[in-house]
This record gives sequence, C-alpha cells and structure tokens, in this order.
Amino acid sequence: MNKTLVVNRSQCEEILTVEKCIPYMKKALVGISEKQAKVLQRIMIPHPNGNMLANMPASLMSENVTGSKVIIFPGPQTAKMGTNQGIIPLFDIETGRLTAIIDAELITVVRTAATSAAATDVLANKDSKTVAILGSGKQGKAHVQGMLAVRNIEKVYMWDLYFDAAKNACEIMKEQFPQVEFIPCETAKEAVIDADIICTTTPGKTENPVLMGSWLKEGAHINAVGTCSARGRELDGQAVKKSVIFSDWTEACHRDAGDILFNISVGELDKIPPMTEIGEVLSGRNPGRTDEKQVTMFESVGISVEDIAAAKMIYEYAKENGIGTWLEI
Ligand SMILES: NC(=O)c1ccc[n+]([C@@H]2O[C@H](COP(=O)([O-])OP(=O)(O)OC[C@H]3O[C@@H](n4cnc5c(N)ncnc54)[C@H](O)[C@@H]3O)[C@@H](O)[C@H]2O)c1
Repeated sequence: MNKTLVVNRSQCEEILTVEKCIPYMKKALVGISEKQAKVLQRIMIPHPNGNMLANMPASLMSENVTGSKVIIFPGPQTAKMGTNQGIIPLFDIETGRLTAIIDAELITVVRTAATSAAATDVLANKDSKTVAILGSGKQGKAHVQGMLAVRNIEKVYMWDLYFDAAKNACEIMKEQFPQVEFIPCETAKEAVIDADIICTTTPGKTENPVLMGSWLKEGAHINAVGTCSARGRELDGQAVKKSVIFSDWTEACHRDAGDILFNISVGELDKIPPMTEIGEVLSGRNPGRTDEKQVTMFESVGISVEDIAAAKMIYEYAKENGIGTWLEI
C-alpha cells in the first residue's frame, strides 16, 4: 500500500521560511492567470460557539498537485486557547494518490507574506529603502521578512492599534535583522509618511481606514492584505483612487476586496476600478509599474492555490530530507 507523508507544525517550521516560499508563490500566481490553476470558492460551516470549519480546495496543474486547506477559524473561546488547527491533504493529480498531510497553520502566515513579497519584487521601485507596517501581529512580522527579502530596506516603521504590540514587534524583528532600523510609531500617519512600501496587515473589519491616500508618498507601493471581505476596509477611497491596482485573483477581489467594495458602499469610490492580475506581471505579459512616480497597490485577498503550492514545497523538501512520518492511511 502507498504511504502518506505527515508533516507536523514543528517540522514545517524547520522547512518553511518566507524567503524560500517566494518562488513557489510566483508559480501559483502565474498558474492563476495562465489558467493552470483551479480554485473553488471557500465553503464554511459556522457553529454556535463561533468555531467555523472552512474548506478551501485548489489544483495547480503545472505542479501535478491538488488538495484543500481544511481549517477551523476559531470562535472567541477557542481563540483564547490558541487553537487554530488545520491540515492540507495533498493528492497527485495523475495517480490520485494521497501523497501528504501537512499542518496548515504556519503555511497561512508564511504564504501570505511571500505572496506580497513576490508582488513587491515586480511592482515596488528598485531603490525602495523604507517600509511601513500597519498592524504588527503575525502577518505584520512575516511581512517584514518578506519585504527585506526583495529590497535593500534600511528602515521599518511599525504601527499597531496597541503601541506595545508595535514596540514588541520592533524588538523581535531587530534581533532577526540587526542591520535594519526598526521604529515603533504612535500613529499610522507617522509610519506611512516616509514609506516607499506600505503593508496593511490589520484585521480590516471596520469602516475606519488605517491608510489614507493623502499620506502616500509619490512612487509608493502598497500591499493591502488585512481585509478579506466586503464588510470592512483598511484603505480609504482616495488611497485606492491614487493607485494602479494589481490583484492576486481578480475574480476573488470582485467578491471579497473590502478596500474596493466597502469604499463603494460608503460612496468613496464609484465603481470597481480596473485591475491586473499580478501573475500577468510575474510572467512578463504585463509591464506592471510603468512610471517611478506611480503609486502601485497589490490587493491580496488570499487564494487557496497559494496554500497548495506551499504545501507541495514542504512535501518535496520533507521527502528529500527524511523529515516527517510515513503512514498508511
Ligand atoms: N490576504 C490574505 O491572504 C490573508 C491571509 C491571512 C490573514 N489575513 C488577514 O490579515 C489580518 C492580520 O492577520 P494576523 O494573523 O497578523 O492577525 P494578528 O491578530 O496576529 O495581528 C493583527 C494585529 O492588528 C492589530 N490591530 C487590531 N485592530 C487594529 C486596528 N483597528 N488598527 C490597527 N491595528 C489593529 C492587533 O493589535 C494585532 O497586533 C487579518 O485580518 C487576517 O484575516 C489575510
């Protein structure tokens, strides 16, 4: 009987870094725009205690892999216990074999930052030196790693609703990157005003934007990451209007990009603006930024093919390096 490789959370930590994940996200994003990937809309089952089962299937035909991220979005009680459990079963498309079961938690954090890094690499001005992080949680810290992997960054401004969170994040990141200056900020404006690259990684679930268009520097690049539904926004309408927009997947952005849809609902935008899939830029079919003075924005709502591509990378590495446990399922 064929065996399945199980890779747990700590083994994933050994293997997966934001930097290593970037080329795999490039493949996934090109797969989306070249119709080499298939993604289905997320299916969710809510429960009275707030725990929500989510199932996010995708296939990446160019890599002969299909699978699904199956995860619990925790309700308030479960969240306090730190539980956020999920797995990604991977199948070989040709043989139909269940090749691996990979822990999903770290993948979600790392693949999102690696996707923003892939977009930043082709959109941000080459001489970008300063980064602003709005929201200094898991995504904020992973985005620091992503931005530093693709540009020679000298200064990172970190802001959070809670100043202590920004301060702690700066201390943690300074240990990892002693050559970079980390500056905790009391206000979002203070963080953004000098930034060449801005990453918005707040929950983005309210009508109050954290990034205003009037603060943006000429030639800035924005990674808009936190808002994944039409029920809230991180950017105000002016920030969106000022930007040339790129999407992870346009179909999903038309459904879930709160930075656009919420701004339409409050009258700060008239209609959905044109956007180009970042896969088109990564494959060389679209030039991306055409002027160093343009403001570019990457709207990331997160797509399951990114999870599948990252899980495949972990599987290949674990198999080659004797990591994980082979089981008969
Ligand atoms: N686009 C994607 O693919 C993708 C993937 C994963 C997560 N996300 C989203 O990214 C966001 C951040 O996720 P995370 O895992 O880093 O969460 P987290 O809880 O680790 O961090 C969120 C941070 O934002 C701060 N915060 C809360 N409300 C704020 C506000 N109003 N203004 C400023 N800061 C505020 C918190 O103090 C915390 O430090 C979430 O909304 C999540 O849904 C997006």
